[in-house]
Amino acid sequence: MENGRANMKPVTGTSQVTCTAPVNIAVIKYWGKRDERLVLPINPSLSVTLSQDQLCARTTVAASLDFKKDRIWLNGQEQSIDAPRLQKCLGEIRRLARKRKHEEERMGDLLGCCVHICSENNFPTAAGLASSAAGYACLVQSLAKLFHIDGDVSHIARQGSGSACRSMYGGFVEWTMGKMEDGSDSIAKQIAPADHWPELRVLVVVVNAGKKAVGSTEGMQTTVKTSALIKYRAEHVVPSRQEEMRQAVLERDFQTFGEITMKDSNQFHATCLDTYPPIFYLNETSKHIIHLVHRYNQHHGKIRAAYTFDAGPNAVLYLLQEDLPEVLALFHHFFPATTNNSERQFVRGLPDVQRKEL
Ligand code: DP6
Repeated sequence: MENGRANMKPVTGTSQVTCTAPVNIAVIKYWGKRDERLVLPINPSLSVTLSQDQLCARTTVAASLDFKKDRIWLNGQEQSIDAPRLQKCLGEIRRLARKRKHEEERMGDLLGCCVHICSENNFPTAAGLASSAAGYACLVQSLAKLFHIDGDVSHIARQGSGSACRSMYGGFVEWTMGKMEDGSDSIAKQIAPADHWPELRVLVVVVNAGKKAVGSTEGMQTTVKTSALIKYRAEHVVPSRQEEMRQAVLERDFQTFGEITMKDSNQFHATCLDTYPPIFYLNETSKHIIHLVHRYNQHHGKIRAAYTFDAGPNAVLYLLQEDLPEVLALFHHFFPATTNNSERQFVRGLPDVQRKEL
């Protein structure tokens, strides 16, 4: 995990900036928008931003008067620059930059330049491992640095991908729902830095690194349209859960943190099942992991490991450093290595546990 905005590392030249941004894993899930265009959520969410040097996006943005048009490459492949969310982020950054041009001599000819964007993830893209969160956080941070924009720009990252606003900060981060119609108060805030809870560890168990069948954007649209459970969740469950979770983080109370993390993941996947037609993100291996974690916790009479799953079958486990060797051994035992690419299983430990093939 990382601290504060320091997790974005700029390498600035006159017209080129490189940043890296880590993924974040929600313990209170965001699922559902009340405003599709502005990407405003139906409930607040809370997440942990992982370590900079593990799962992260790295983006270089360059501006030059020689460039004929804006262009973007993702993992080495040129993509359409016309994607609406990309255009939204570029447009918002340029709008802010224009606003402060009169007070900024450093801005020079930057506003007349086209930009080239080059972004890479060091982990499977679109596999339900928060790749768009890291990607848009990194893009917006790099553009903000390039155009000399200071202050919070999480409301711009949010319009790229909702969960991206939480990757703008390190440590424990919440994304407030906000009340304003223009979405200006739906922003990310750090509630505690990473070193607030140094014993907390995260294991990412990659069950399947392939692209997910139903993307988050489309999936949550259908859920909001068709599920009664999602309305109940947003109105009656998440508000108090968010408070309890914030308190558990501040008090470093792993029992409450772990229990809410697992319950919230389960309820999110229940809303997917309540979607019509239903969406299944978990597969059989995911379910085995859930059973294993509960059996392990029952054996010890307390929560020693907590799972959470995003929009895919890959598990993320939260645990404390003292239990890490045992949990790793458990996973080695029950999920022996396989070389089958579609169902590859390995564990990544964060922040300072090396990647382990099972
Ligand atoms: C399950 O942020 O990817 O990971 O805003 O449509 O881009 P869009 O969705 P996205 O959704 C993430 C959903 C989640 C839960 C979470 O990270 O809170």
